[in-house]
Amino acid sequence: MGKPRTIYTCKQCGYQTPKWFGRCAECKEWDTLVESKGSKASRPGADAAPIQLSHVRTDRGEVRLRVGIGELDRCLGGGLVSGSLTLVGGDPGVGKSTLLLMALDAFARRGLRTLYISAEESAQQVRLRAERLGIVGDELFILADTDLDKALAAAETLQPKVLVLDSVQTLYSSRLDGVPGAVTQVREVASRAMAFAKGRGVPTILVGHVTKQGGLAGPKTLEHLVDTVIYFEGEGRTQLRCLRSTKNRFGSTGELGFFEMTGAGLQEVPDASARLLAERCAGAPGTAVIAALEGTRAVLAEVQALVGQPTPATPTRKVVGLDKARLSMVLAVLGKAGLPVHDRDVFLSAAGGVRLAEPATDLAVAAAVASSLIDRPLDAHTVVFGEVGLAGEVRSTPQMAARLKEAQRHGFRHVIAPRAAVKSAPKGIVVTPVRSLAEALAALGLRT
Ligand code: TYD
Ligand code: MG
Repeated sequence: MGKPRTIYTCKQCGYQTPKWFGRCAECKEWDTLVESKGSKASRPGADAAPIQLSHVRTDRGEVRLRVGIGELDRCLGGGLVSGSLTLVGGDPGVGKSTLLLMALDAFARRGLRTLYISAEESAQQVRLRAERLGIVGDELFILADTDLDKALAAAETLQPKVLVLDSVQTLYSSRLDGVPGAVTQVREVASRAMAFAKGRGVPTILVGHVTKQGGLAGPKTLEHLVDTVIYFEGEGRTQLRCLRSTKNRFGSTGELGFFEMTGAGLQEVPDASARLLAERCAGAPGTAVIAALEGTRAVLAEVQALVGQPTPATPTRKVVGLDKARLSMVLAVLGKAGLPVHDRDVFLSAAGGVRLAEPATDLAVAAAVASSLIDRPLDAHTVVFGEVGLAGEVRSTPQMAARLKEAQRHGFRHVIAPRAAVKSAPKGIVVTPVRSLAEALAALGLRT
């Protein structure tokens, strides 16, 4: 067996490499690599006998604790799994602390002891918020402290059934150097929380802030380490909040939950379509209704486009809540179909603060842009969905039956959709199948 290999570890982010570099390849800090003996991988010759996968014992059945807040439970895949570590990320002020306090309250009301560690706000501040939310239970405990060791010691003593640590960036361990929020500290908080969750079988939730770039502040490894990651998103100007799972070791990802921030906390929005279409400008040129898919749910939303007059300057493209690259592609295909907008400003928005990123929005985007361009409104009872390919073809999209059903449920009568949608049409809905963008524009009355 060879001599132990020398490896170099970054003091800043923990990155390891067998070769010394002046600059860490991971965090890009200079002069942070220090020598350490040992080996990253296990050495050859170590005994580790593989066994047949079918012989692996699985007697530790997963136990799920339903929170009792439907939209949150949906995102979690049915509730919190015992011994799991969940990361709830989001911008400051979006409502993470409010949501988790409400979640703990929901457990406490059923007699389950819960512990909320607040490293950002004082106990008085949390109490004032709790009063606003109508939380009074005796089983909800709070500890306002930034010391991770004290927080976990308190959890060991109290033995809560659910633990929340708010937040991973403000807690710190005095055993390590570095200020709270430093990469080593964030990693320590997460791994100790994981050890607690696994060791005690207590579902534990970590709150994390999101950076301007959209990633969680802290090492990417944070997301690798935890079992479940859910993001709480919302445009500052609207009250609608959206909970989105991006990783789930115990369920499917992409699930969405909708909430609305009100004076008395977060209210669930079980019928997102009705909420998103409530202020619709039916009959105005430049708007189209899409049956979009969010997670496994179909949601109706309004896509709005505003196309300007031809301009000699470089035209502006502004997109809110939709994919900018897909817009460029749709505009190019529209040009080929005889509706060029290359010399005009185009503004595009998904109304109501939702984010629609899937290819199925293409056809609705094209319809909204074309409608604004020729200043002719779409029929108010028509829903549009379908992916548009570069050759102008309309491609089918996942879950067409669910989309059609949602359109029917909300009283729409006509759907322009890919051909394959016809066989899933529910009663009362007329589906006009289209093979190309040109056919869709003709069916929508946008081309003569
Ligand atoms: P908070 O949960 O503190 O956000 P985070 O933990 O993600 O930083 O929520 C903060 C915002 O929510 C704050 O701007 C006030 C608002 N809010 C309400 O509008 N209604 C309420 O009942 C509560 C508790 C907060
Ligand atoms: Mg908070």
